[in-house]
Amino acid sequence: MSEQQRTPGEAELAEMSRDELVAAGLEADHVVIAKRVERFPVPGTRAEKRAVRGVAAWFALAAIAGLAFLGVYVAWPNSYRTPDTHGSFWYDLYTPMLGITLGLSVFALGIGVIAYAKKLLPDETAVQQRHAEGSTEFDKQTTAAILADAGATSGLARRKLITRSAGAAAGVFGLGVGVFALGGLVKNPWAKGDKSDLLVTGWASENGEKVFLRRDVGDPHKVVLVRPEDLDAGGFETVFPFKESERDDEHALIKGVRRSDSPVMLIRLRPGQKVVKRKGQEDFNYGDYYAYSKICTHLGCPTSLFEQQTGRLLCPCHQSQFDVFTYAKPIFGPATRSLPQLPITVDPETGYLIARGDFIEPIGPGYWERKS
Ligand code: FES
Repeated sequence: MSEQQRTPGEAELAEMSRDELVAAGLEADHVVIAKRVERFPVPGTRAEKRAVRGVAAWFALAAIAGLAFLGVYVAWPNSYRTPDTHGSFWYDLYTPMLGITLGLSVFALGIGVIAYAKKLLPDETAVQQRHAEGSTEFDKQTTAAILADAGATSGLARRKLITRSAGAAAGVFGLGVGVFALGGLVKNPWAKGDKSDLLVTGWASENGEKVFLRRDVGDPHKVVLVRPEDLDAGGFETVFPFKESERDDEHALIKGVRRSDSPVMLIRLRPGQKVVKRKGQEDFNYGDYYAYSKICTHLGCPTSLFEQQTGRLLCPCHQSQFDVFTYAKPIFGPATRSLPQLPITVDPETGYLIARGDFIEPIGPGYWERKS
C-alpha cells in the first residue's frame, strides 16, 4: 500500500466488515474495479436456474464419461486377439474406448469450468498496478477477505447442483486417473499359477509337453524347428518356444513369438572353446550349444549382437556386454546380472532341440526379486 495511506490498527481491522476490508484492500493495492455486473442480480430466477443446469450438465457428463472410462478399463475385453479371430473387433476397440471416455471426461470438465465462469460469475474487469516489497499484515488480511468475497459472490455456496456435479466429476476423474496409473500394479507377479507370473515364461511346459526351439523366420504362422546341425560352429540365432498342441492355433502361434519373455539367443560355440559354467547349471547346455534369454538384465532391450571371437553378447541400448564363455556374466556396461540360461537338449524322437524346462530365475531387468 502507498505510504500516504493510513494503515488501520489490529483492533480497527477486527471491527471492519468483509465488504469494508475488500474495499480497503482494493484501494491499498491500487486496484480499480472498472466494471462489475452481476449476471443474476436477483437470485433464483428461472434464467439463473437454467444457466446452473447447463453448467451442471457438463459436470455430469464429465462424471459419466469418467465412470465409463473406469468400466472400460476394468471390463472391456483386452487380452490379445489376432486379426479376424473371434473377439478381435472388441479387442481392437479397447484402446480407442479408453481414449474416448477419458478424453470426453477431461473435455466436459473443462467446458463445465469455462461455462461456470462465463455464465454465473460476475462480469468484472479489475485493473491493478503492480509494486514490489513484501506483504504487510494489512495486506494479508484484506487479501484473505477478497478471496472469501470471491467465494461468496461466486454463488458456489448456494448453487448446490453445481458443487455436487463438479465434485462428482472431479472425484470420478481423479479416481479414473488413479486407477489408470496404479491399476497395472494391482497384481502379485510372484503368484503361482498366474499366467503373467514372472517366474513362468513361454518356455514352461504344461502337462509335460515338449517345448521345441523354433526359428525366427519372420512369419509367426510358419513353424521351423531347429536341429543341432542347422547352426555352424560360432553361429547364433534367435529362437522362440513352440509346442505341437499350438500348431493349428493361430492365436497361440502368434503369442509364442510376441511374448516378451520368449526370445532366446541360441549360440553354437566353436569346438574346444573354454567355458566357465554357472554353479548348478553345469548341464544346461547341449554340447557346444548354449541358450540365453535375449532380454537384457539392465532394462530389457534385446541383446542382439554376438561377437564370436570374444564370446561377447552386446546390448545396443546402453552397451552392456555379457561374456558367453562365463555363463553370460555382465562384464561391461550398466547390467549387473547374468543373462538367464535356458536348459536345452535334443529330443531323441525327433532330433530337434528342445527346452528341458523353463528358466530357473526371472528373465529381464534385475529389479525383480531374484530366486537364486
Ligand atoms: S537395456 Fe541393455 S544395456 Fe540397458
